[in-house]
Amino acid sequence: MSERVIPLVDQRHPSLPLPATVQGHSHDLNPLPLDGLRRPLTDLRISVTDRCNFRCSYCMPKEIFDKDYAYLPHSHLLSFEEITRIATVFVGRGVRKIRLTGGEPLLRKNIEILIKQLAALRTPDGQPLDLTLTTNGSLLARKAQSLKDAGLQRVTVSLDGLDDAVFRSMNDVDFPVADVLAGIEAARAADLGPIKVNMVVKRGTNEHEILPMARHFRGTGIVLRFIEYMDVGATNGWCMDEVLPSAEVIRLLQTELPLVQLDPSAPGETAERWGYANAQGEHDPSLGEVGVISSVTQAFCGDCNRARLSTEGRLYLCLFASQGYDLRQLLRDPTQSDTTLAATVDAIWRGRTDQYSRLRSLRGPDTASGPGRRVEMSYIGG
Ligand code: GTP
Ligand code: 5AD
Ligand code: SF4
Ligand code: SF4
Repeated sequence: MSERVIPLVDQRHPSLPLPATVQGHSHDLNPLPLDGLRRPLTDLRISVTDRCNFRCSYCMPKEIFDKDYAYLPHSHLLSFEEITRIATVFVGRGVRKIRLTGGEPLLRKNIEILIKQLAALRTPDGQPLDLTLTTNGSLLARKAQSLKDAGLQRVTVSLDGLDDAVFRSMNDVDFPVADVLAGIEAARAADLGPIKVNMVVKRGTNEHEILPMARHFRGTGIVLRFIEYMDVGATNGWCMDEVLPSAEVIRLLQTELPLVQLDPSAPGETAERWGYANAQGEHDPSLGEVGVISSVTQAFCGDCNRARLSTEGRLYLCLFASQGYDLRQLLRDPTQSDTTLAATVDAIWRGRTDQYSRLRSLRGPDTASGPGRRVEMSYIGG
């Protein structure tokens, strides 16, 4: 009799020790922290669930994320109050953009309540946050208006192709593309813009969808971005052969749709921007723009300002990290004040030197190793 082997993809490896902050003493919280590579902390991504109703092979392959997979029990998830409290602390330490992710964030029950709480936060200079959410779009047609009413500003929708058969096979749960397109329309009707659409490109799987996607979204005001398939996590069986470098994506687009490169719109941006050109070879804003996100062939770690909070409240300093810092422990300890939380966040950020993608490209493009087993993207959020 053969025993069933359950693959070990437990995310709950031991967390990193929290820096010792001087409890009971007043902390000097000025100036805002810079990390070891002098990068500020301006972007917080919060994963609100480790579950998803899709099984994209590059993220949650079916063989591993099956019915026996041990998702986090409810008591381990940060509550909305805990998320809002820690988000408030981060905003006090420089964060201006919050992205809700997952898994699929719209699967988290009553997510609108959390959005309402986060939408009420203000930066120290009184500005509202850039509050956004990444979704697979499957529930968007139903939820777009309530998300907008709760105070969400914009959404980014993942969509890997327009051809129904290709899309169904990439989400691996036979989900129809028409429903995601309806979700994007609902987001547009609810004014959840500027809307971005993220397409992960896998060579040999959906590269023939690049031009149809570009034609479909050109001139709609929706910004389509092509993402290089990354070696994130430890379960997707990544190999360099399946990466289509962004330079090739741009070359392919240019065969039919002339483009001109645009300046970055914000420091630390993930995407390189390209505008559709008019007959004179100048950017025509009415045609809009596309982006390419080249974390494999052109790492953008140099000004990475992103921190990630997992569903159970661990702080990860890099998408490719294998361990995080357990902030939930502090949040659930009644003796710990917000000032201690802020001092802890500062100390963690000041100690940060992560630059995984850059180091991986220095090692050589076809290597995907690193210290320890990396966490899954569905756990810490894209
Ligand atoms: P905008 O503010 O809307 O431009 O969002 P963004 O590009 O910062 O975030 P988004 O979640 O849309 O990122 C798109 C994709 O880029 C993700 O799904 C990842 O594949 C990749 N990505 C985002 N952040 C990082 C990062 O810090 N490192 C690496 N290597 N890839 C990232
Ligand atoms: N490579 C690149 N992007 C990925 N995502 C998930 N897994 C990968 C991967 N292996 C991103 C996609 C998706 C978002 C939720 O996470 O952009 O749209
Ligand atoms: Fe779900 Fe997004 Fe991961 Fe696909 S990429 S499995 S939609 S979380
Ligand atoms: Fe930031 Fe790590 Fe991504 Fe580099 S690999 S951009 S350090 S999250």
